[in-house]
Amino acid sequence: MQVRSVTITSFRNFEALTQQFAPGVNVFFGANGSGKTNLLEAIYALCLGRSQRGVADTVLLRDGAEVYRLAGELTTDSRSTHVAVAYQKGGRRKITIDEVPVRPAELFERFCAVAAGPEDSAILSGAPSQRRLFLDLHLSQHSQTYLKELVAYQRALAQKNAALKGRMDASLFDDQLIDYGSAITLRRAAFVRELREASRPYYRDISQGEAFDMQYSPELETDPECDDIAIIKAAFVEQLERNRDREMYQKTAVVGPHRDDLAISIAGFPARTHGSQGQWRTAAVALKLAIYRMLTDKRRMAPLLVLDEIFAELDDYRTSALISGFSGFEQLFLTTAVEPPEPLRTNATRFKITAGRVERIG
Ligand SMILES: Nc1ncnc2c1ncn2[C@@H]1O[C@H](COP(=O)(O)OP(=O)(O)O)[C@@H](O)[C@H]1O
Ligand SMILES: [Mg+2]
Repeated sequence: MQVRSVTITSFRNFEALTQQFAPGVNVFFGANGSGKTNLLEAIYALCLGRSQRGVADTVLLRDGAEVYRLAGELTTDSRSTHVAVAYQKGGRRKITIDEVPVRPAELFERFCAVAAGPEDSAILSGAPSQRRLFLDLHLSQHSQTYLKELVAYQRALAQKNAALKGRMDASLFDDQLIDYGSAITLRRAAFVRELREASRPYYRDISQGEAFDMQYSPELETDPECDDIAIIKAAFVEQLERNRDREMYQKTAVVGPHRDDLAISIAGFPARTHGSQGQWRTAAVALKLAIYRMLTDKRRMAPLLVLDEIFAELDDYRTSALISGFSGFEQLFLTTAVEPPEPLRTNATRFKITAGRVERIG
């Protein structure tokens, strides 16, 4: 898919802006704080109705403004669609596709975008919840059923936790947790197996041969390779039984995929404790490129690729290895605070950003 143009009103540090974009590589460069990440955020939010940084609408609203609006032409299979996302202070986000109001989830179903940026190092360096967030976001883009199961699981989990806190019968919710939770565990296992195979070659190529590995570590005591839902369910039932007193005592549900993690290693060591900033950045980009490829296959459309400052902290070899892969993408947007590296000066459309203004320079 591609974003042909955007019109931005009162979003972050942009007051009013209309800008055309090109197929292939679009580079935004400019000083720190000029609005490069904000422009990527506007493009991403137009595609998926949410910020890639996961922040609230009130933060996106330009300081002092009451309403922000993003509108633009998105193309998939050379069919053009007009999309608009608007938010009024105190209200809810309103989304239209070709002037027809739609649910937010509709954008998620129709369009696809993958973003990589500095915040992704947290996938490697952060708490398990960061890795679950990463899995959930991309698995939801990969499978609509997963998203439904996840929402249902989270609802049942919240009800169970409320019951435990109120000293009520919490076991009422266990059947739902077992059903949805086992399905989630199974899908995560399959997704991580595929992601492992897809990301290792990217990591190796960008890093000149360093090893990268990942394993699903489900909270349920099952083999992460297990693909039999009956076995997963049985393990869930058994562990719930064994932890019943502990759940009552701690007043919180301790068994289930809401406690899952990923075990990731770089150059043979656990990424979280032993990795360097540059290795985390490399791994995050390798994971996102692998996700991009998996989504291209699954969705039968090339997602939009949005890369924020991905060269920061990478050495020259890693930078050129990354750039050499860029010609394979239908459309990608990237930011850099310094002059773009040489190959991007000739093979990309470049935009200079200065304090919320955008100028195409080549
Ligand atoms: N809601 C907002 N209203 C007005 N200005 C904002 C808002 N959010 C961020 N900014 C401004 O945007 C700038 C940061 O833009 P950003 O795109 O992150 O910079 P960079 O070009 O370094 O990526 C800051 O100067 C900040 O003050
Ligand atoms: Mg930035």
